[in-house]
Amino acid sequence: MSKQQKYHATDRMNDLISRNFSLLMVMSRFGLSLGFGDKHVKEVCDAQQVDYRTFLAVANFIADDDYVYDEVEGAFSVAALMEYLKRAHNYFLDFDLPAIRRKLIDAIDYSGNSELAALIMKFYDEYVKEVRRHMEYENKAVFTYVDGLLEGKLSESYDIDTFAQHHNEIATKLTELKNIIIKYYPGKENNNRLNAVLFDIFNCEEDLVSHCRVEDLLFVPAVKQIEQRLQKEARHFVPRTRNAAPEAEQETISQREKEIITCVVKGMTNKAIADKLFISVHTVMTHRRNIARKLQIHSPAGLTIYAIVNKLVEIQDIKGTAL
Ligand SMILES: [Fe+2]
Ligand SMILES: [Fe+2]
Repeated sequence: MSKQQKYHATDRMNDLISRNFSLLMVMSRFGLSLGFGDKHVKEVCDAQQVDYRTFLAVANFIADDDYVYDEVEGAFSVAALMEYLKRAHNYFLDFDLPAIRRKLIDAIDYSGNSELAALIMKFYDEYVKEVRRHMEYENKAVFTYVDGLLEGKLSESYDIDTFAQHHNEIATKLTELKNIIIKYYPGKENNNRLNAVLFDIFNCEEDLVSHCRVEDLLFVPAVKQIEQRLQKEARHFVPRTRNAAPEAEQETISQREKEIITCVVKGMTNKAIADKLFISVHTVMTHRRNIARKLQIHSPAGLTIYAIVNKLVEIQDIKGTAL
């Protein structure tokens, strides 16, 4: 990151976590385990084969509410960031949302007799289905597309802007559920269980908002940079392809054509060349046209340079001619 960073490679991992415990989540989503003693961020990441630049990019992003992307391409690894996002998806779908469901069932006394409890659970289950669709789309469509980009493949039918434009806020319904419970759920004597699940929903909501922010403000612009570079390379590649044909043919310059080149650079006329090689002037001209097309060299001076570089003539042989 070019701007002022909050966290650095040489900071102690323990200090980071103590100052901001939400980084525990970031750590675990990078696959980093605890028990790192007094080691620095880079040491901890290196020891566990995690790209420390990507870990720091996410940690600094989360610590900066006014984050604006200004990274250079390659400042962190997009592949490592995708791994992080995939792990976050697994965490939400396989751990956090099911855990909230279990607690919710306990808290609202879901015995099948309460219509309100049934409605709350229906609302929740539909919400989880939405989150699943959202995250599976990212895992299957978006990350597969980005894997292709990382291998240098652009797609004609999809780009990261298409994803960004349709990337919706997935925490909204959870916020709504939380508000319904807080405002309208009939009070009971002991609300500990309900408060506990509300606390979990608050955390999950914050976590989901942060997750979407990483996708919108860190992942999308980084992928866009890759797309722009590949598009630029593709544009430059077209003229190179056009030039590639003559270059390939350059190797197929025949022995006869080499003789013609040698004669031309020695300053001989078409007639003189024809006489020397026992061919017609017309044939000499055809050879010269073919040589010009194959080498993309159209002047005697250019042919002279080619002939010297390719050791068809010695420099003293062509003194006083086209050079
Ligand atoms: Fe996601
Ligand atoms: Fe998302």
